[in-house]
Amino acid sequence: MITQLIYMSEPFGYDSAVLSAILATARRNNARHGITGALICRHDVYLQLIEGDAAAIDQLFARISVDDRHLAVTLLNRAEVAGRVLPDWAMLHDPARSWLWSSAEVGRGAIRQATPAALQQVFARAAVEASTA
Ligand SMILES: Cc1cc2nc3c(=O)[nH]c(=O)nc-3n(C[C@H](O)[C@H](O)[C@H](O)COP(=O)(O)O)c2cc1C
Repeated sequence: MITQLIYMSEPFGYDSAVLSAILATARRNNARHGITGALICRHDVYLQLIEGDAAAIDQLFARISVDDRHLAVTLLNRAEVAGRVLPDWAMLHDPARSWLWSSAEVGRGAIRQATPAALQQVFARAAVEASTA
């Protein structure tokens, strides 16, 4: 089984240099630890899926939770699943192409209220868009 974890947070000091640094670290570390996933980002929100061995995922989420490049880290779903959503990506970057929520909807809590299935669907769509881009 694969442990799949999805969380959201609020970017703090968001710009392309910060994002590039996060992605470079993520890709280097994740490849080493058998972790795959995607980071969907917009100025108002990060939405990330990480998947891999339970211990590796929990250790990574503990590090991410205390990272000062974002605020209000909120766990949305942690589940044991049969397979990976993003097996080919150490950390896919998606500039919010794959979701349907406006900033106003995010502000009203749309992501927090989304079902696990709806959240997983967002990442499945990111994977499809990346493979056909
Ligand atoms: C939004 C966000 C997503 C992150 N995603 C990952 C990730 O997927 N993998 C990772 O190793 N670090 C990720 N990080 C960075 C970690 O918080 C932490 O800085 C890093 O794992 C430390 O690795 P290092 O000791 O190799 O510098 C992320 C940070 C932020 C703010």
